[in-house]
Amino acid sequence: MQKLEVLGAAKLKGNVNISGSKNASLPILAATILSNKKIFLKNLPKVKDIETMINLLKSMGSQIKSDKKNLIINNYKQNKNFASYNLVKTMRAGILVLGPLLAKFGRAKVSLPGGCAIGTRPVDIHLKALSKLGVKYKISQGYVHAIAPKGLIGSKIHFPKISVGATENLIIAASLAKGTTFLSNCAIEPEIKDLVNFLLKMGCKLKWVSKRSLKIEGVNYLEEASYTIMFDRIEAGTYLIAAAVTEGNLKIKNVNPTLIKTEIDILKKIGAKIKVKRNEIHIIGCKKIKSINLKTAPWPGLATDLQAQMMVLLCKANKKSIIQENIFENRFMHVAELNRMGAKILINGNKAIIDGNTEFAAAELMATDLRASVSLVLAALTTKGKSLINRIYHLDRGYENIEKKLQKIGAKIRRVN
Ligand code: EPZ
Repeated sequence: MQKLEVLGAAKLKGNVNISGSKNASLPILAATILSNKKIFLKNLPKVKDIETMINLLKSMGSQIKSDKKNLIINNYKQNKNFASYNLVKTMRAGILVLGPLLAKFGRAKVSLPGGCAIGTRPVDIHLKALSKLGVKYKISQGYVHAIAPKGLIGSKIHFPKISVGATENLIIAASLAKGTTFLSNCAIEPEIKDLVNFLLKMGCKLKWVSKRSLKIEGVNYLEEASYTIMFDRIEAGTYLIAAAVTEGNLKIKNVNPTLIKTEIDILKKIGAKIKVKRNEIHIIGCKKIKSINLKTAPWPGLATDLQAQMMVLLCKANKKSIIQENIFENRFMHVAELNRMGAKILINGNKAIIDGNTEFAAAELMATDLRASVSLVLAALTTKGKSLINRIYHLDRGYENIEKKLQKIGAKIRRVN
């Protein structure tokens, strides 16, 4: 199994080109199921989760080719409405094909994704909301068996809790439902806005009617579409933190800084110097990192997907800091590994209490989930010795060419077998 070897401290310097967003690409790929017309997608990241979603679509009959810049999807022969456990088990976003399959075929059998390292992650909100569109479902042998006897019918749905995935599933499903759907208490992450923009390009009729409410008029005709996926704001945030924690000097390119303003403001508060241009963020890390208390929250709050990386930074702050994790119940898997490297972090419920002034020590480490893994890489980049990070398939799920991008900016990192 492949590992990452990190050979100690490096002040990261140079330019980083940010890839397309994994979490925008996944629902957009799922939404292509709605259409029988050709779809051209640009800026998909080359990461494992995208490969898995493409394989899932192919397993259901999609024809998918790629040229240099585009993925070309042709679903006119797509005829299966079954998403198998084998493909969905490695990637929870597999559940996102449920809404579009129901919209297209009126029935679907989709594997339940199961729990994962960061929490139990049920899909009850997706299922209850779909039932308001006329879907009947039962769960048997690990699969959701769903049927819409009269097709999907527009409805009013208020999400009981903000859920990115449930909002996406319902937006996609309602786009082909009969009549009008009103969704309220929607997640409004930039990736959701990207999905809506993609659906508009295909000819769907969606309109934001207030901050968290969307009106969707079902259509029965879609057009050929070409769409460029937004940048990966979590990858961008990760490299910003990498610069801050290594006293680096990085230009983060191909980004829209307004979409990670919250994280930029936090980094400024802890002492980093940041200049923002239209498509670029220039960050210079600082010697003295100031402590701060943080809480994760749905967008526009601090992204839970950057919590582990922020924690590494706060381990090096001048005083104690607290991070409260408000999205997932168990997203502190990185803490035990960071403590093995010399951090002093205590967990109390959903709070991590972080003593500052940590000099991380190199170690052999175990990655547990995507963002936890990258936090270990960040910590290892500040040490004096050699760290070895195991189970990096977690990293490959969401970071394109991570070791190459880091090598280019001065990190001594390589992939070993
Ligand atoms: C998306 O997951 C992202 N994944 C996650 O990124 C991200 O951490 C998360 O949103 C929050 O921003 C993708 O976009 C593919 P949720 P999702 O539904 O949609 C609970 C990464 O590292 N919930 O907003 O699964 C749930 O357990 C990944 O790239 C229910 O209780 O997140 C959680 O506590 C990890 N029932 C909260 O809601 C449901 O039916 C928010 O989850 C659905 C969710």
